Amino acid sequence: MFTLKKDKNKPFIILQLTDLQIIDPHQRCAPDRLREDEIKTWEDVDECAFNQVRKLVDMVKPDWIIHTGDQVYGEFDKKGTSFKKYVKLMESFKIPWSFVNGNHDGEIIIPWKDKTYKCGKGCKWQADYVKNHTKYCLYESGDRKMGFGNYYIRLKEDNKTIWSFIMMDTHGAREEGIGPYQSQMKWLKRVFNNLNKNGPINNFMFYHIPNYEFVLAATKYYGDQLCTITTDGTKNERGDFGENKERVCFFKDESFWNYIKSQGSTKAIFVGHDHVNDSSIEYEGIRLTYGVKVGIYDYHCQQGATKITINDDCYYIEQILL
Ligand SMILES: [Fe+2]
Repeated sequence: MFTLKKDKNKPFIILQLTDLQIIDPHQRCAPDRLREDEIKTWEDVDECAFNQVRKLVDMVKPDWIIHTGDQVYGEFDKKGTSFKKYVKLMESFKIPWSFVNGNHDGEIIIPWKDKTYKCGKGCKWQADYVKNHTKYCLYESGDRKMGFGNYYIRLKEDNKTIWSFIMMDTHGAREEGIGPYQSQMKWLKRVFNNLNKNGPINNFMFYHIPNYEFVLAATKYYGDQLCTITTDGTKNERGDFGENKERVCFFKDESFWNYIKSQGSTKAIFVGHDHVNDSSIEYEGIRLTYGVKVGIYDYHCQQGATKITINDDCYYIEQILL
């Protein structure tokens, strides 16, 4: 558990980055995995991704940065150097930052054309690296049974918790299925009991792969999971915005959704994974929001990030488009 502090009379600003997916094409494990022109396109990490992050941090000036998964592509990071570069970039801002694990971060073995190749160093190595080499990173790997990166943060004002942020692993990199495990559900219950023991504390959840309710929300209010609500970040009368250009890749777990809902404290859930989706739709009292992808690897359309402002009991979400 970590703590962040909010100044009284000043909003607390969060920058959500997602799916940066940096790769080092020269560390490809399968020799013919990329074409020559692709190698050229992806080899300059500043141009592909880091300059965009620098620009967004400068524009938003956040108090905390949360990256909702697929920071790097484990498949192309056998030596761990891409992850180290990523950590160096994030530390350079001197702003508290956190991340959850996406399905690509922890790739250690990759199948390619009837063969299997050993590749990235995996989530455990990444967790150990940030533990030992960072000053600003708030990340806890948590109990191994639950995967990696299950932890939470209290946001305090005048020493009182006014908001909480729960980070959760949705898995997917290590042949283990997606969505929360039973052990994570037990952990979540402990966390919520702890947070809400003196009444509900406003909460956000951050994880990589969307839950099935992202499909239900888009279908219920916009007729289909592929939908255009607004394209320039403006909000409609429900406060919804953005669009879904690809089908939602989801985990389905009704008990997870019912539990989160029953707690009554979670105001919004922020995910990534589907690169060309950036919708935000309120569903059954919880705002389901895709972060805007940053970085050009691999498929993408709009690039940017998501700014979340907390002020007293209210929050406000904006797309920051590059
Ligand atoms: Fe992903």
